[in-house]
Amino acid sequence: MYHTIIGKDIKEAARLLEKGELVAIPTETVYGLAGNGLDPQAIAKIYEAKNRPQFNPLILHVANENQLGKWVTALPEACSLLMQKFSPGPITYLLPKSDKVPDLVTAGSKRVALRIPSHPLTLSLLSSLDFPLAAPSANPSGYVSPVAAKHVMDGLGGKIPYILDGGDCSVGLESTIVGFEDDHIVIHRLGAITAAQIIETTGKKVEVRLSHAAPTAPGQLKRHYATQKPFLLGDIASNHALNKAKKIGLLLFEKNPGLTADTAVILSPSGDLAEAAAGLFSAMRKLDAANIDIILAERFPEHGIGLAINDRLERAAFKGVEEG
Ligand code: TXA
Ligand code: MG
Repeated sequence: MYHTIIGKDIKEAARLLEKGELVAIPTETVYGLAGNGLDPQAIAKIYEAKNRPQFNPLILHVANENQLGKWVTALPEACSLLMQKFSPGPITYLLPKSDKVPDLVTAGSKRVALRIPSHPLTLSLLSSLDFPLAAPSANPSGYVSPVAAKHVMDGLGGKIPYILDGGDCSVGLESTIVGFEDDHIVIHRLGAITAAQIIETTGKKVEVRLSHAAPTAPGQLKRHYATQKPFLLGDIASNHALNKAKKIGLLLFEKNPGLTADTAVILSPSGDLAEAAAGLFSAMRKLDAANIDIILAERFPEHGIGLAINDRLERAAFKGVEEG
């Protein structure tokens, strides 16, 4: 057990990471649970602290394109174009891995996931280290990702020594994950960088392949981002009518369509999808902690980051096999 400290001391974070300890780090998407990505023992600690299945690989975080180049054997032109436009930012690249990357990071895959996050604290931490940081989202496996230092404390307090506090995450959803095929780009996870932006930047075709059931990106397991309370997604009026006897919490986009509830969260009264995304995971946590029996969520508009929001809502609502 650790006495977990929340602070803003980059030097202390670096000192702990250099010793092989884990530190939670802020990014613009969600908080990450970071360890030395070249140290198999540190990586093993990440899997253990999160209770994460070891077949689910980790993203390596680096400060810039130079650092990124050290861990791959090739960089497709389309990737360079995306990096120029969107990195640092909420996008992760699947690239052919160098032998220097431990197999434990990639769960045996020949491709490694790399990302340059855009949070200033974490960027300066990364610049000061001579190794990349392996970092999954800093939540117990399967639960909602953390978008504030306090969320990390709620899930991992006692399991790690330090949480680097960078405030609330501005994007609020995990990065878009892209892989490169000969003639097209595959989106493995939806995020703030959209298919339309990727097509516009690279001129390539894009295939969205969210492999939930039979993961090619291992860890694209369907039951994820889940609340402990039952979570129903879909037509909110009919789900409300069916659950009248229960204490209801509502998760809404712009407005309440006139339904009574014990708690209701409206994510963006002005109808701004980016604002809704930034507030989504905090709202799910708030509803999970509220004195209600069930959470009813509505679907978001199917464009822009609305697609990534719906993906997270669907996984939270999934009733199938729970894995990870
Ligand atoms: O925004 C983000 O990406 C956040 C922040 C902390 O950077 N990280 C994050 O990590 O969401 P995690 O571990 O919760 O999700 C990473 C996803 C997993 O679904 C994993 O299976 C996939 O990336 N992934 C990682 N390495 C991979 C690889 N080599 N091949 C295929 N998929 C990979
Ligand atoms: Mg995660």
